[in-house]
Amino acid sequence: MKVTVFGIGYVGLVQAAVLAEVGHDVVCVDVDQRKVDNLEKGEIPIYEPGLTPLVKSNFDAGHLKFTTDAKAGVEHGELIFIAVGTPPDEDGSADLKYVLAVAETVATYMNNHKIIINKSTVPVGTADKVRAKVNDTLESLDKSCGFDVVSNPEFLKEGAAVSDCMRPDRIILGTDSEHAEKKLRELYSPFNRNHDKVITMDIRSAELTKYAANCMLATKISFMNEIANLAERFGADIEHVRHGIGSDPRIGYQFIYPGCGYGGSCFPKDVQALVRSANAVGYTARILESVEAVNYDQKEKLFEYIMHHYNNDVKGKTVALWGLSFKPNTDDMREASSRVLMERLWEAGAIVQAYDPEAMEETQRLYGDREDLRLMGTKEATLNGADFMVICTEWQMFRAPDFELIKSKLTDPVVFDGRNLFEPKRMTEYGIEYYAIGRGL
Ligand code: UGA
Repeated sequence: MKVTVFGIGYVGLVQAAVLAEVGHDVVCVDVDQRKVDNLEKGEIPIYEPGLTPLVKSNFDAGHLKFTTDAKAGVEHGELIFIAVGTPPDEDGSADLKYVLAVAETVATYMNNHKIIINKSTVPVGTADKVRAKVNDTLESLDKSCGFDVVSNPEFLKEGAAVSDCMRPDRIILGTDSEHAEKKLRELYSPFNRNHDKVITMDIRSAELTKYAANCMLATKISFMNEIANLAERFGADIEHVRHGIGSDPRIGYQFIYPGCGYGGSCFPKDVQALVRSANAVGYTARILESVEAVNYDQKEKLFEYIMHHYNNDVKGKTVALWGLSFKPNTDDMREASSRVLMERLWEAGAIVQAYDPEAMEETQRLYGDREDLRLMGTKEATLNGADFMVICTEWQMFRAPDFELIKSKLTDPVVFDGRNLFEPKRMTEYGIEYYAIGRGL
């Protein structure tokens, strides 16, 4: 099928590459000429396991093309995905200007029936706005063309985006058109082999499903962080509690890992956006407001432990920091807990020696050259001359470190662990003082 994807960001690029891989003919349109040029040279703008070979092979095979030519893009696609960003507005609501700009572009160049598919995470009611924008534009150009608008939210996770997209749990189709549903079922049939993963519903329900899924997961995390904070005060161990409750299949083990807060481009933004959308319809989303507030505080947690340990004085101390990205297997630093920690440490006069397997370039880009930030070549190198150590991201390579080395290198052998990677008892045996989340101070 002929598909066009507007927006070569995270979602757009992964979706486009996966659709090309199963044989669809995909054109990606973006306003950024440099991005297009780089992709044509095989340079992928993000780090995502498996994405580079997928993009390269499909580009070489001619199934996947990149262009800034919106007119050619619209002419190509029978199905047109909108996968542009919806950044938060000043008040936290999702800004739809890029989505609506694509709707206008599609209407400007379309000359036959199009199925316009919203892939971006957009507030409930956006499909109606897209429809209105297309209709207004067609009218102003004195054209009449049929079109459908579909809500088809994505559920991919950074770090596992390609496999999530190849083997989706579910494919949500919000549509009021039989024709669009038939075409989308055909488009997704390669991913829908063994059992039917397509769930169809009305458009508004599909739009809300996306927010509800992310907000539910964020709620699980904040809930667990709250229980961790209680465990700490009650002298209980959250890791036992996690195990104890996760074994109930109604609760499950997933997304109940306590830590130094959730980050990334989705949870913080989507929780905020749903709170704002709720306000707009006269409802106060109290649970979600609390989810956000708990997470905000949780990002301060490691700094609190550190200040508690050092009697509020870390001036001149050197900190070995392991992990900068908001989660493993990505170079994404958006809303990362490491940023809150580094900024607090700098304000308090400490020096950060950091290592991350993928996010060092991004950290350099964000913070530039500064004397109190040293990006080191290995995790071990961060220990040179360091006073204490902190873990912000649970990269696999941090799970079995050389504890003897850590102990011998740190001036003060203490580890502050924001991801609960180690057993407190073992750490005591190694002679390392250990602070973890919800495991007793
Ligand atoms: C999230 C959802 O998991 C995807 O299903 C969704 O499609 C995506 O948002 C999106 O809307 O695009 P992502 O932001 O890539 O995916 O990352 P997650 O794996 O969900 O992790 C988010 C944050 O929660 C990370 O900072 C992670 O460290 C934290 N987390 C996760 C915890 O603190 N505890 C947990 O138990 C799980």
